[in-house]
Amino acid sequence: MEYKIKSLKRIISIIFVFGFGAGASFLFFTYKNSDHDYKSMHERHHSQSGMAEGNTHKHDEVNMPGLQGKDTTDQEVNDLKTIFQEHKGIKRDVINLANGIKTTTEAHDVKLRDAITSHVSMMVTRLQQGKNPEVMIQSPTLDALFEVYEEIETEIETTELGVAVIQTSSNPEVVKFLQTHAAEVSDMSARGMVAVHERMMRTTDE
Ligand code: HEM
Repeated sequence: MEYKIKSLKRIISIIFVFGFGAGASFLFFTYKNSDHDYKSMHERHHSQSGMAEGNTHKHDEVNMPGLQGKDTTDQEVNDLKTIFQEHKGIKRDVINLANGIKTTTEAHDVKLRDAITSHVSMMVTRLQQGKNPEVMIQSPTLDALFEVYEEIETEIETTELGVAVIQTSSNPEVVKFLQTHAAEVSDMSARGMVAVHERMMRTTDE
């Protein structure tokens, strides 16, 4: 009887030790194989082309939660959603002036064109009032522009298919910010969210 209890105890200890070992190994290998930094997460979510076929785990590119800001209206977020979803239909032209920029941003599609016009008029109004929307994915250049908004002159004109913007400043530092921002808008227009993710990864790496 005593012998039976002893061997039962031994079997339980063996199961316990092996079970614990197997569990620990499982946790070790699961953790070891996973990286949690922004860059590796991004690489797993997207292939080089941005969206791989058969990739089952993607960013939420329908609701785009990154377009929400600390101070944004539904209209502003919806305009940005339309702009990013339809970015391939945007035609953008930028001229760097000695004291600023002249940009033209146009689209044949009416919904996209309305979103662009609305975005520009609302965002330029914010800039003139110094009211930073603090959108999650916005670039550091935009924050810099909101710091110096009083030194920027903006003129907006509608064109047949969109909007033309002239922004100038007598401060050469501000002119640099305006030109950098205009180039960022062109990059986002051409490549959509891929451009945003790349810029955010560069900022994270630095
Ligand atoms: C494909 C994406 C985008 C397009 C096509 C676009 C378009 C524009 C255009 C045409 C302007 C006028 C200045 C210029 O022509 O360079 C502008 C200004 C502005 N945009 Fe966007 N935008 C985009 C993304 C964003 C995002 C993600 C934010 C985040 C908050 C944003 C916020 C602003 C602000 C605050 C301004 C006023 C600042 C200024 O005019 O210098 N935009 N945008």
